[in-house]
Amino acid sequence: MNIKMNILVTGCKGQLGTELQKIADRDHQHRWVFTDVDTLDICDKDAVEQCFADHQTDACINCAAYTAVDKAEDEPELAEKINAYAPQVLADTCLKHKALLIHVSTDYVFGGNADKPYRVEDEINPQSVYGKTKAEGERLIRESGCNHFIVRTAWLYSSVGKNFVKTMLMLGDTKDEINVVADQKGCPTWAHDLAAALMALLNKNGKKPVHETFHFTNEGQITWHDFATAIMEIGGKTCKVNPITTDQYPTKAKRPAYSVLDLSKIKEYAGIEIPDWRESLVKCIEELNSGLLRSSQ
Ligand SMILES: NC(=O)c1ccc[n+]([C@@H]2O[C@H](COP(=O)([O-])OP(=O)(O)OC[C@H]3O[C@@H](n4cnc5c(N)ncnc54)[C@H](OP(=O)(O)O)[C@@H]3O)[C@@H](O)[C@H]2O)c1
Repeated sequence: MNIKMNILVTGCKGQLGTELQKIADRDHQHRWVFTDVDTLDICDKDAVEQCFADHQTDACINCAAYTAVDKAEDEPELAEKINAYAPQVLADTCLKHKALLIHVSTDYVFGGNADKPYRVEDEINPQSVYGKTKAEGERLIRESGCNHFIVRTAWLYSSVGKNFVKTMLMLGDTKDEINVVADQKGCPTWAHDLAAALMALLNKNGKKPVHETFHFTNEGQITWHDFATAIMEIGGKTCKVNPITTDQYPTKAKRPAYSVLDLSKIKEYAGIEIPDWRESLVKCIEELNSGLLRSSQ
C-alpha cells in the first residue's frame, strides 16, 4: 500500500492530539508520528529539525500550545515561547523540508466587540496575553513563507484533559446550583470534529502549496450559560445554572464578549458539513459515560 504522507503530530497528549490519535488508529493512508513535550519539545529547534529529518515529515499538525488562558497573564514569556516562538521554529523547519504546517489558533485573537460572526479576514485585536501570543504565532507562520493552514477554533472540549464540559459535569455531581456567565457569546468545538476537519483539509490539499487561514467551531451561537445548562440537561444533572454577568465573575484574562466565528470558508474549501454544537455535545457526553461504565466494570 502506498503511504501518502508522513505526518508528525506535536502536543499529542492534549485534547486535539488525542482525537488525531483515534483517527490514526483507523487510518491506513498515512504514516503517523505522535510526540508531546516529553519526546519533542517544540521550542527545541535542533530536536525539531532532527525529528523532521528522521521521519521525512511531509506534514506537521501542531496541537502543542500554552493553553492556560488566565495563568498566561502571569507567565507571558513562557506563553510567548510556546505559542509564538515554537510555531516559528516549526514553520522554518517546514519551509526547509517543504512540509505543510497545520497550526491551530484561537477566537481570542479577536477583540470581541462584533455583532456578527468574525470572518477570517476581519481585523484582530487580542485582549489577553494568551490571545496576543497566539496572534503572534499566526503572524510568524505567515511571514515564514512555509506552506500552512492556520485554523482558528474556540471553546474546545473533549472526553480527555481539563475542559468546561468535564468541569460542569463534575460540579453537577457536587453542587445544587452554580453561576455561569450569560453575556459572552461564542460556539463550542468538540475536538473530535476539529480533528476530522483538519484531516479533510490535509487530504483535500495533499502536497500542493498553500497559505490559508480558516475558522472551525461547531455550528451555532450560545453563551457559556446556555452551554452549562445543556451540559447539565444532557448529562442528567439536577444542578441549577444561574445566569450572571462577566462583571460578577472576574478573571485574570479578559475574554471576548462575542467571538462567534464565520465558518463559511472552511465548509466551502474542504467540502465539509459541520455538526451543530448540541449534537456533538451529546456524542461527547455519551463517550464520557461509556468510558465511566467501562472503568466501573
Ligand atoms: N482549549 C481551548 O478551549 C482552545 C480554544 C481555542 C483554541 N485552542 C487551541 O487549540 C489547540 C489545541 O488545544 P488543546 O485544548 O488540545 O490543548 P491541550 O489539551 O492543552 O494540549 C496541549 C498539549 O501540548 C503540550 N505542550 C505544551 N508545551 C509543549 C512544548 N513545548 N512542546 C510540545 N508539547 C507541548 C501539552 O503538554 P502539557 O500538558 O504537559 O503542558 C499538551 O499535551 C491549541 O493550539 C490551542 O491554543 C484551544
